[in-house]
Amino acid sequence: MSRRPQAPRGTFDVLGDDAERRARVEGEARRILGAAGYRRIETPAFEATELFARGVGESTDIVQKEMYTFDDGGGRSLTLRPEGTAPIARAYLEHGMHKLPQPVRLWYLGPFFRRERAQAGRYRQFCQVGAEAVGAEEPGVDAELIVLLADLLRAVEVREVRLRLNSLGSTESRAAYREELLDYERAHAPELHPDVRARIELNPLRAFDSSDPGTQRVMAGAPKLYDALSEEDRAHFEEVTAHLEDAGQPYELDTSLVRGLDYYRRTLFEFTSDRLGAQSGVAGGGRYDGLIELIGGAPTPGCGWAAGVERMLLASESPAPAPPPVDLYVAIARPERRRVAWALAQEARRAGVAAQLESAGRSLKGQLKHADRLGARYVAIVEEEGVSLRDMQSGEQELMAADLVIRAILRPAA
Ligand code: HAM
Repeated sequence: MSRRPQAPRGTFDVLGDDAERRARVEGEARRILGAAGYRRIETPAFEATELFARGVGESTDIVQKEMYTFDDGGGRSLTLRPEGTAPIARAYLEHGMHKLPQPVRLWYLGPFFRRERAQAGRYRQFCQVGAEAVGAEEPGVDAELIVLLADLLRAVEVREVRLRLNSLGSTESRAAYREELLDYERAHAPELHPDVRARIELNPLRAFDSSDPGTQRVMAGAPKLYDALSEEDRAHFEEVTAHLEDAGQPYELDTSLVRGLDYYRRTLFEFTSDRLGAQSGVAGGGRYDGLIELIGGAPTPGCGWAAGVERMLLASESPAPAPPPVDLYVAIARPERRRVAWALAQEARRAGVAAQLESAGRSLKGQLKHADRLGARYVAIVEEEGVSLRDMQSGEQELMAADLVIRAILRPAA
């Protein structure tokens, strides 16, 4: 006997109540971000591999081992998008969005793909909702994004949320620090995990991200980028934090926070939930002032974030929203009247009445029970002589011609 097919490892089907909960996240994102002037953008599910290699960075786990890359048959290398910021930078360039009033505020929601070791809260296909503001250096934009993200997490009832914040400095202040950190790491190389050691020359900052205890011990004593910030970087960061304080948004300064993407400059942040286990990151983001230049555009600042929809729901206690109401259940008392029932259901739907039609050959008693389980307001029992319309709340029933049923339902309650 052959094995039954299963969804690939790290993927899942979205069923029933889960679909409603996910739709709610999307609705809250549209409401909160839309009201702040963010417009929806959709980019393709795959892009040229080069975009991520350059944009996300060769030293990152994502590019080194997590991308789903394939040849499209014509010798072009394509990659299922592992994240949304590089594609948005590409779209900004491609559509000349620098000509629009700046910053260009965008939001997105959709599937992303990473070949990670699957575990609770970590999938190979997952859904992110994200927001990006491209074209402004203004620290108020960073704060706006962070506060909107906090609002979204609150709206979908994500529990035990903490915000950690750091500044990575601009490219310039990083250059000098990079040498200082590299010297330190080279001096401690034997104590670093071999994977970390192999990557320090590519990006010495990534060592802060390691979960290896030996590496963590070394990095606890490493010079911090935060202490090497230029005056401009520090002033920028202080304005971000001042705005957060004005908005009543609590945060923790975490000078060892680095994130697994190379494009970050200056403001960096992560929201975690203590409700989640090892994969505690619910959302993260930061400023990426060098990204657009890196992929071939003029120097353009940008800032944004993405939140994992599955992790938001794992850390949330919000019950699934109720399924859409059923106004009318069309029951069939006599099988030969099926076409009348069919026509009635069509007419009802066109009139904006949420209608379901019996389709399982149940007995009339079974149909009424099913309609009751669905919470139908009315049941139309299609009989020989006409239609008996039953009000499920009052139990009142009235026999009428089929063409009067919709009017009777839409009649305002006395
Ligand atoms: P990221 O931290 O790689 O950032 O991902 C953002 C969020 O996506 C994470 O906090 C997590 O909730 C979710 N996520 C990531 N990987 C997985 C996975 N394998 N399974 C489930 N959920 C996952 C970015 O992607 C950046 N593009 C964010 C950004 C936007 N930065 C600036 N603008």
